[in-house]
Amino acid sequence: MAPTPHVQPVVDSTAVFKPNLFKGKVLFCTGGGSGICKAMTEAVMRHGASATIVGRKLDRLAQAAEELSKATGQQCMPAQADVRQFNQLQDAVAKTIERFGKIDFVICGAAGNFLAPIDGLSVNGFKTVIEIDTIGTYNTIKATLHHIRASKGSYIHVSATLHYKGTPYQVHVSAAKAAVDATSAVLAVEEGPHGVRSNVIAPGPIGGTEGMDRLSPKGPAQQSVYPRLPAGRLGDVRDIANATVFLFSDAASFVTGQVIVVDGGHEHLRGPSLPYPESVLDPNTFKHMIKPRL
Ligand code: COA
Repeated sequence: MAPTPHVQPVVDSTAVFKPNLFKGKVLFCTGGGSGICKAMTEAVMRHGASATIVGRKLDRLAQAAEELSKATGQQCMPAQADVRQFNQLQDAVAKTIERFGKIDFVICGAAGNFLAPIDGLSVNGFKTVIEIDTIGTYNTIKATLHHIRASKGSYIHVSATLHYKGTPYQVHVSAAKAAVDATSAVLAVEEGPHGVRSNVIAPGPIGGTEGMDRLSPKGPAQQSVYPRLPAGRLGDVRDIANATVFLFSDAASFVTGQVIVVDGGHEHLRGPSLPYPESVLDPNTFKHMIKPRL
């Protein structure tokens, strides 16, 4: 019988980090109304922070803010803004300062994605994703930097891994996320002397998200796109949330300008020459091909 691979368990950050780690801190998160960014916000709030979540759809944001407040016992304010509109972001920042008095942490998470080949993508389609992901990130930095300098705070940018290689149908997102990674590095270097840190989280395949649902095949076909990962499972939004808690904490005070890939080892898994993970778990099955020299 084939050996079973180990599956790394998912944990909640409160089982690892102090519950009051972020007491009195304030988070400003774009894209916080749903998915990965909502889970990142929830984790930071569970450790005592208040938060503003920013997005385009006010009804969805208001509902998410209510859910987040209820789940964490902390205050969460919805602020409607399109990250492409700098003045709307400035308003959201002003409302945050009025309500909470400061901003310590920023998550630049608002993003747009769809599958389209270069040949079939309109000029406006490419520009739209660059505007949301790249220019939206820059606008968010620009609107908050003054406050983050004052609090000696920290940025996390939500990027991706798909631009490390040529990912078909993702030219717009690949270009946009590469620019986000570069922006974070410059921010870390320019603002480090002011006490500001900036890092990127690059999520791998995260199950149950809108992006995963819409951008990857369903059922058995998913197994061929995301073969069994070294971690033994797909990612969970809590995996990204846990990395967020670490990066915003003082334990990461020497970590800046980095891209933290949270993908269960996916990026390092090449198309195997032998069946994976069977050939690693039980090399004997393949001893006619693997010749150890002791
Ligand atoms: N395939 C090809 N082109 C697409 C597209 C798709 N699925 N979706 C949008 N576009 C193109 C549009 O055709 C338009 O170009 P055109 O004027 O040449 O026709 C351009 O992108 C702008 O689209 P529009 O819907 O008007 O812009 P928007 O600002 O309202 O929304 C997105 C842009 C990317 C946010 C939108 O596609 C969307 O809602 N995506 C789902 C949400 C999402 O991506 N969440 C992130 C999860 S990872």
